[in-house]
Amino acid sequence: TTTTEETKTEETPAAETTDEVKTYKVGVAIYQFDDNFMTLYRNELKSYMESLQTDTVKYDITIVDGKNDMATQTEQINSFITQGVDLIICNLVQTSSADTIVNKVVDAGIPLVLINREPLAYDADGKPLDEAYEGILNNPGVCYVGADARQSGTYQGEIVAALPDKGDANGDGVVSYVMIEGDPENIDAQYRTEYSIKALTDAGKEVECLYEYLDNWDQTTAQQDVANALSQYGDKIEVVFCNNDAMALGALQSIQQAGRTVGKDIYLVGVDALAEAVQDVLDGNMTGTVLNDDVGQATAAADATKLYVEGSAVEQYYWVDYVKVTKDNASQYVK
Ligand code: GAL
Repeated sequence: TTTTEETKTEETPAAETTDEVKTYKVGVAIYQFDDNFMTLYRNELKSYMESLQTDTVKYDITIVDGKNDMATQTEQINSFITQGVDLIICNLVQTSSADTIVNKVVDAGIPLVLINREPLAYDADGKPLDEAYEGILNNPGVCYVGADARQSGTYQGEIVAALPDKGDANGDGVVSYVMIEGDPENIDAQYRTEYSIKALTDAGKEVECLYEYLDNWDQTTAQQDVANALSQYGDKIEVVFCNNDAMALGALQSIQQAGRTVGKDIYLVGVDALAEAVQDVLDGNMTGTVLNDDVGQATAAADATKLYVEGSAVEQYYWVDYVKVTKDNASQYVK
């Protein structure tokens, strides 16, 4: 069965004007509820959309859990279409299924706001091309709200490159690292992996990748893999790059268990600026993280929704900046 969070707006007594109350049905499909960052995002989205309500405009929001299964999500989108929702916000389980979802929703005449997982144009081998996705470019009823994953990767690499030893904790001239990756199909994981290292090599450092682990954004899986990495490579590991903070928190547990000390003989970076990770940055247990602005993105997605239902012009892309978080500024990002 599918978990459904339903938010019925409280009936405000009709304003003493002749204006009718218009209620817009908004269907929100999240790739998976069990994801720390997307949980912050979805809660923010719900409360911000509620705050946009007026005496005459109401939002009836239904949020569903795709459980990281594309078939489940496709059914949920079908069901939103059958229910005749006024707009769909979708955090795709698989961006490779963007065409199927976009075509369905566009054919039904329903505006679509894609969030968090950016569909791109891909080459025949499934490698992302640096080109925008035609499903967005060709359809005024479809837009994307997100953050440029390249920026987050670059910031991770720059945080390490700015250290006095540029990440070369053992002083052998090479930065030896392990990469803890999110879902490999996800552009955030691909670009963070690529651009974090690019920033280090651009800063003139020689690097050596000891191992790349696919840990699907998950804390426990990352904890196990980093424990294995530390027993296999020991002191050779100087930097643990994690595509997100949930995995960095798992990595930290294993780093501490192995008797290693972040900031002294090893460095650790993540992305998202989850509350716990920001505290770890302040306490020196993480070298840094990168703010993935859930509030900014949820606000932009809700604002796009409002424009669509009002019939106003909507841009095709809304970009929200990432922010580097290190000990110097972390106190500003404590939630
Ligand atoms: C990323 C975020 C990850 C995870 C992922 C889901 O932007 O950093 O923690 O939530 O989105 O697609």
